[in-house]
Amino acid sequence: MSGFTGPDHYQKFFDPKIYLETYFRLAGDSMGDDLLHFILKNLAQIFNSGNVKGETLIDIGTGPSIHHLLSACNAFKNIIVSDFTDRNREEFQAWLSNKSTIFDWSPILKHVCQLEGGRIPWAEKEDSLRRAVTQVLKCDILKSNPTDPVELGQADCVLSCLCLESVCKDEEDYIAALNNISTLLKPGGHLVLAGALGNTFYTVGAVRFSALPVTDDFIKQSLIAIGYDIISVELFQKPEGCVEDIADFTAHYVLLARKRA
Ligand SMILES: C[S@@+](CC[C@H](N)C(=O)[O-])C[C@H]1O[C@@H](n2cnc3c(N)ncnc32)[C@H](O)[C@@H]1O
Repeated sequence: MSGFTGPDHYQKFFDPKIYLETYFRLAGDSMGDDLLHFILKNLAQIFNSGNVKGETLIDIGTGPSIHHLLSACNAFKNIIVSDFTDRNREEFQAWLSNKSTIFDWSPILKHVCQLEGGRIPWAEKEDSLRRAVTQVLKCDILKSNPTDPVELGQADCVLSCLCLESVCKDEEDYIAALNNISTLLKPGGHLVLAGALGNTFYTVGAVRFSALPVTDDFIKQSLIAIGYDIISVELFQKPEGCVEDIADFTAHYVLLARKRA
């Protein structure tokens, strides 16, 4: 296949079960586990800091995943999730109605509960996320209103993990997508982005998805240019000599920024 695989490729070929089994199973494999621990730890720090909280959080490009929302539900009353593909939204909805059998989230739930001090049992944490999610919407970050035809009010926080670099074919698209998702955020609100740096592809089973190999500097400068202050950026560098055939990222990042009022 040649060219950048865009949103239609996701609609046709993105398999939620294989995606979750490939990237979210704590398997005792140190690289995969370390990377997941990095993301979960940094999101737990951000959402338990007391500084990033409010009524509503909108998650963009949720996929079939819940891991990135587990700490967010401590800080936001309402969580709106969104994704481009029908299958991902159906799978999320199945998890929401407690009917999903495609993935066992309990190891990740237990890990997040431990990170947060072990005060609540993991099943209670899962229920509290279910209670917080109020809408599962179709979304396209390449549209000026990503949730078109639904007009959402501006939220206190916008979160997006591994989405922009997976969907945008070049830097111009990436900046346009940042502007698009930014329309969903109140002035003074927080943007939390997490994802891969230097990545050109990843695979889900036998299917290859393109990625835009962004740098942390590019993301920071783009955000500053469209009206954000950067609060923190944490990096997970891929260990030297580690060759992965399912993705070629050089690092992962978790970034917190604030939209200027
Ligand atoms: C790598 S997955 C990330 C999923 C999830 N956020 C996570 O961290 O596991 C990329 C997601 O972007 C979604 N996506 C593809 N095209 C999109 C678009 N135009 N707008 C919004 N999301 C899109 C895909 O359906 C997929 O769920």
